Amino acid sequence: MKSPIGHLSYAPGLKGVVAGETSLAMIDGAAGRLQYRGYPIGELVDHGTYSQVAELLWTGAWSPDAHLACAPLEPELVDVVRRLPADSNAMDALRTAASAWGAIHRLTWPPTIDQAHAITAVAPSALAAFARLREGLEPVQPDPALGLAAGFLYQLLGTRPDEAAARALDAYFVVGAEHGFNASTFTARVIISTHSDLASAVAGAIGALKGPWHGGAPAEVVDQLHEIGSVDEAEAWIRATLARGDRLMGFGHRVYRAYDPRAAALRSVAEGLAGMTGWLDKAVAIEQVALRVLAEHKPDYPIKTNVEYYAAAVLQGVGLPPNLFPAVFALARHAGWTAHSLEQAEVNVLIRPDVRYVGPAERHLPD
Ligand code: ACO
Repeated sequence: MKSPIGHLSYAPGLKGVVAGETSLAMIDGAAGRLQYRGYPIGELVDHGTYSQVAELLWTGAWSPDAHLACAPLEPELVDVVRRLPADSNAMDALRTAASAWGAIHRLTWPPTIDQAHAITAVAPSALAAFARLREGLEPVQPDPALGLAAGFLYQLLGTRPDEAAARALDAYFVVGAEHGFNASTFTARVIISTHSDLASAVAGAIGALKGPWHGGAPAEVVDQLHEIGSVDEAEAWIRATLARGDRLMGFGHRVYRAYDPRAAALRSVAEGLAGMTGWLDKAVAIEQVALRVLAEHKPDYPIKTNVEYYAAAVLQGVGLPPNLFPAVFALARHAGWTAHSLEQAEVNVLIRPDVRYVGPAERHLPD
């Protein structure tokens, strides 16, 4: 509910406020449509690669030959990652790596496509190195022949991933690449708007994505399905969760009032993964119960399945542990964060909203 502040209006959480213009993603929340620079997400998942999509977001052009491989880590960066406690949160590790990479490279403003390319290419190597080091294994050098998703799996596992897993993770990266003024992207744009550098923008964005209401949801979807147990127990569990005032993970979105098109795309990707049938059948059945109960719970505010519900299926299906899910989402979103940073810099205005003061009236310290 907006309330006036002088001639200004107030919208908590900036709900319904248009805070900029973009030519990157078109999101039609009512109809459940998403396009990157005009191309429907379903087409990009079926016929594109993350390398092509990242290039599209950065340049605006479709480049069939685009190839984005993981970059090797500077020795200083390996040292930083090595020194992190083994039980660090993977998002903390990735954010630290982005920050350390920025300290090594000392990027200048405005951000450039080369910078966007470089930070997007180094992030999977940093995350894979962290994941191996915490298991007592040494990092693996990237293979320049592999695209970003396959290259990440290779550096994580130390062996070449099978074709189906590499393709599924690449599709997940395409789906996760960009999504308008979400909280982490907006954070990146705020940072760039101050003439700060791209590494700072990405580090800040990772911090915003870490929250369970944004990028932390897929791991919680796995826990949720585990806690629910069987499909027969789903309705009682869901009703009890909502009665406590808790949220169902993998449902609801600030923009989509219709089914999230990314969830639909990832559901088909998950269906193509071997060994997923049992888990997926249960997830699909529980989704139907959840949608029915949510519709009763909030009849005037449609809460539908979001991308994270089926992201959980794909990430599990390619063999990633849930504690890496948010950080893998962050790897995919690098293309969007950096493309938005380029776009922000082109038309830069300092992002600095007003705030309504609700504290005490003027008062004075005791004599
Ligand atoms: N389960 C139960 N209730 C919900 C859910 C949910 N998943 N989502 C929204 N609601 C309810 C809220 O409790 C609130 O009810 P109230 O008015 O009685 O307090 C109402 O719907 C509106 O909630 P808001 O947070 O104001 O609305 P918004 O649409 O901005 O919420 C959000 C979006 C934060 C993503 C929310 O749906 C949520 O928390 N979902 C669960 C976490 C999740 O899956 N996050 C991933 C999102 S996708 C992404 O970030 C890539």
